[in-house]
Amino acid sequence: MADYIWKKDSSGKVDERVMRFLAGQDVLLDRELLPFDIRASRAHARGLARIGVLEEGQAEAMAAALDELQGAFAAGEFVLDERFEDGHSAIESWLTERLGEVGGRIHAGRSRNDQVAVAIRLYLRDRLEQLKRESCAIAGVALERAASEAMLPLPGHTHLQQAMPSSLGLWWAGHAEAFIDNAELAARIAEWIDASPLGTASGFGVNLPLDRDGVAAELGFARLVVNPQYAQNSRGKVELRAIDALSAATGDLRRLAWDLSLYASEEFGFLQIGSAYCTGSSIMPNKHNPDTVELLRSLHSTIVGARAELDSVLSLPSGYQRDLQDTKPPMIRAFERGLAGLALVPGLLESVTWNETRMREAIAPALHATDRANELVGQGRPFREAYRQAAAEIEDLAGRTPEASLQARVSPGGNANLLLERLRERLQALKAD
Ligand code: ARG
Repeated sequence: MADYIWKKDSSGKVDERVMRFLAGQDVLLDRELLPFDIRASRAHARGLARIGVLEEGQAEAMAAALDELQGAFAAGEFVLDERFEDGHSAIESWLTERLGEVGGRIHAGRSRNDQVAVAIRLYLRDRLEQLKRESCAIAGVALERAASEAMLPLPGHTHLQQAMPSSLGLWWAGHAEAFIDNAELAARIAEWIDASPLGTASGFGVNLPLDRDGVAAELGFARLVVNPQYAQNSRGKVELRAIDALSAATGDLRRLAWDLSLYASEEFGFLQIGSAYCTGSSIMPNKHNPDTVELLRSLHSTIVGARAELDSVLSLPSGYQRDLQDTKPPMIRAFERGLAGLALVPGLLESVTWNETRMREAIAPALHATDRANELVGQGRPFREAYRQAAAEIEDLAGRTPEASLQARVSPGGNANLLLERLRERLQALKAD
């Protein structure tokens, strides 16, 4: 272990067992944050040069050394591990090794407290952008299939009981709209997070005229977290909101996965999932199991568990507390697993094949009863009376076809009038954003 950056002289005793406990997995988790911490450090150095705390040449040398670290880390030539107390110390030690005492000047006007806070906001901005992209990709496949399979009949259920004739178009478009909403939520939360806490130091500001606005602009932030105390108090809060956006997507994925696993069962027999997404059984030679769908269904529990863990850390007074470090494991676990799962969904959806005959045959004549009642309404009959007459006539519905029923379902959003172009427009706008 390199010397701790906070070690002032040789008198203070460091107990390695205590230090190991304080570190936990922290330095390893900082691997996720390091690229963002390096970027923020570069902007901070340039900011210091603008107010004369660093000479221009010193800031340039720092920026170059930080670029080098970025490259070495990406190439696996620099490994962040237990040699360092955390990622922040690793950056300073890299600079000091290369630039001597100039390296230690990087920490003027900042604290690890605002350093980690800015790295987390940059990390979350990046992950929410990914969440938006994954959600758009899922919505894109679902919309395409909604268009190409618009009128293929599918029995519609409520209470898991057969209800009315429906279509693949309506089913696909329903899942598409969910993920358009989820993409939009990710984008909005990203905007809400888009504020720089850098330059608030340990939570009180510093007696230097830091160019906080300039540094924030270089990092692409829309605004500042103005108040230094709130910069610390909002730690954990931003992570929670980001996980909320993620859980909106995994919650909808859970429902989609439920539909797929139900429809794939032999009793329904509506669809088959591509073999790349299935596994076999170690004992039953006949099995073809939709494991991917099932683990995508349970993915939501990882996210909800992480959210609960994170939330329970936040019972804290104002200002920085080391407890906040414990928000990192659930945040990173949630986004790593969540995004990896969501990234599989477009391909999985493309791999689905339908058994049209089974779906058509599953639509019993009684499912046309509601259509019949509304036909009578169209002829001027009061709905309640039409309802009773249709109930009495269920036997007479045997000659009807799902196709005719779907063609007549003209209400906006209904099977014959899916308004896919409206969904497409929203998706395009999100993608262009
Ligand atoms: N690993 C720490 C965290 O995540 C970094 C900040 C340390 N600050 C401190 N004052 N000890 O919170």
